[in-house]
Amino acid sequence: MNPSQLSTNDSAAFLADFRSMSTFGATAGGGVDRQAGTAADGQVRNWFRGLMEGHGFDVRYDAVGNQFAVLELVPGAPCIAVGSHLDSQPLGGKYDGAYGVLAGAHAAIRLLRQVRSGELAAQFNIAVVNWFNEEGCRFKPSMMGSAVFTGKLPAARVLATTDPAGTTVREALESIGTVGEFTLDLAAYVEIHIEQGRSLEDAGLTIGLVESTWGANKYEFIVHGEQAHTGATVIADRHDALLGASALVMAAREIADTFSTAEHDVITSCGEFTVFPNSPVVVASRVELLVDVRSTDADVLASADAELHRRIAAIEKSASVRIERGAEHIWAAKAYDQAGMVLAAECAEELGLPYGTVRTLAGHDSTNLKDVVPTIMLFVPSVEGISHNEKEFTHDADMLSGADLLTSLLGRVVAGGFVPGK
Ligand code: GLV
Ligand code: MN
Ligand code: MN
Repeated sequence: MNPSQLSTNDSAAFLADFRSMSTFGATAGGGVDRQAGTAADGQVRNWFRGLMEGHGFDVRYDAVGNQFAVLELVPGAPCIAVGSHLDSQPLGGKYDGAYGVLAGAHAAIRLLRQVRSGELAAQFNIAVVNWFNEEGCRFKPSMMGSAVFTGKLPAARVLATTDPAGTTVREALESIGTVGEFTLDLAAYVEIHIEQGRSLEDAGLTIGLVESTWGANKYEFIVHGEQAHTGATVIADRHDALLGASALVMAAREIADTFSTAEHDVITSCGEFTVFPNSPVVVASRVELLVDVRSTDADVLASADAELHRRIAAIEKSASVRIERGAEHIWAAKAYDQAGMVLAAECAEELGLPYGTVRTLAGHDSTNLKDVVPTIMLFVPSVEGISHNEKEFTHDADMLSGADLLTSLLGRVVAGGFVPGK
């Protein structure tokens, strides 16, 4: 057996830890609710700290609550980080993000054993990371902690960001006690995640080597109308914000239908929609909604985006409302490190795991990390592609194969096989 492969004990330990981790924020429907900075997020972070400290890792937090379990193997050397996120959507699945953090933890724990037995000559230290607020549901935008880490968002702005109840990120982090001053010298990043789509399952593959991200343009819109009586105000006098916002939701879907080509899909959504004052006999004065437009191709995305903005002007006229564009969150369709994919493919072949290349529709912390350090992103299958849903499911055998591959790959990276050691 390859020394990095999991023993039966390692597999049992991984699955036992996965089950324990999934109890934090567990929902009746079999998922989890661990929105960033909530009590459940605090509990799972403490559990993760205990797990890693029990294996001799030093657990630290940076200024925006990113959690690092550091294993010093080579004093003064930079770190290879491996991880994902432990926060979830409301009524989310228990695999999204959490699988990657735990797989990274177990890979690092096994590599420590290899270092101690002399099988692995490390050139780097290891940091298992749980990025703060990848999901972006309670506090926007998504991928928040990794955005600050990679210099895409200022920490001060993030700490002052509020949730719908007015609580700031700073207050939320302080309330769960997971904020500090740690900084990390990072050489490369590795992440494993469930696919959240069905391509691996459909193709009968166990591992996806992620070759690139899709591009995504996400916009917060505020539709301004005029509050009025739903019965007494004649149609000609209305400025109905809800009518304008609904037209925008419909326009987004029509754009997906008309701009998708045989080569390049366009995917659009409205996932959040808040009506003010949301009262039965009141024409809405304001609606806040979030629309996102995604595509594999930059030109196709630009055309779909331009059409969305043309449609906004038309909706303003027809619904007699004003549509304001608020914050935006944009990332480009961009490739992952080619050499990293080759290395991951070699590891998969050695372990006899069927693999293929995939692109990621969803954003991940690696979307940010790959722009600043060499980054490798791996997927394991999601049954029926179900995600952001309590029914999200990945078979134990696939989780274990992914952890097996991650151990082998991380071992090669830590030994200097991806980026050169200093
Ligand atoms: C993640 O933030 C996504 O929108 O896919
Ligand atoms: Mn995720
Ligand atoms: Mn998610």
